[in-house]
Amino acid sequence: MASGRGSNFQAIQKEIEAGKLDAEISLLLSDRAKAPALAMAAAHGIDARALPYDKNDRAAFERAAGDLFEQAGCAYIILAGFMRILTPEFIDRFENRILNIHPSLLPSFKGLHPQQQALDAGVKFSGCTVHLVTQELDAGPILAQAVVPVLAQDDEETLSQRILEQEHRVYAEAIRVLANKEPA
Ligand code: GRF
Repeated sequence: MASGRGSNFQAIQKEIEAGKLDAEISLLLSDRAKAPALAMAAAHGIDARALPYDKNDRAAFERAAGDLFEQAGCAYIILAGFMRILTPEFIDRFENRILNIHPSLLPSFKGLHPQQQALDAGVKFSGCTVHLVTQELDAGPILAQAVVPVLAQDDEETLSQRILEQEHRVYAEAIRVLANKEPA
């Protein structure tokens, strides 16, 4: 599931195409019809769909999304820049089968603008975390992390870019481990 740029989606897809990740992306779902990730997926022959999202009826989007994932036989749901909070019902429906990537070393800097939070805190290292999605935001079991230095001259953009390069590596790595296991 992706809402925007789709660089994490693209990195995962490249690993699959290069034969380095034994997985298949059966479906890309977005809450935004204009998400660049949709066009990228379609260009790779992946079923790519936007579903209408009404923030007053999140459950409707999630019911439709969940049904599509089940029909497509998806073992896991990978959140790749999906910018909506999922309801407890959806998280329960796919317990231990939803992964997210967050651009900080969790449990530090949960929520929005984690890179700016890291700069504001003055930490010398930050990074990214792949974790299972649970009811508590950005707090599920950690599957993989990568560390980057925070440099004196960094701003939110330069730090985000350095972290993003690691996101692209570490997300595929986490999926590689899971792809060899049956979901719990
Ligand atoms: C990434 O920084 C990811 O960690 C965060 O949202 C951003 C998505 O980027 N959850 P992209 O759409 O994958 O390029």
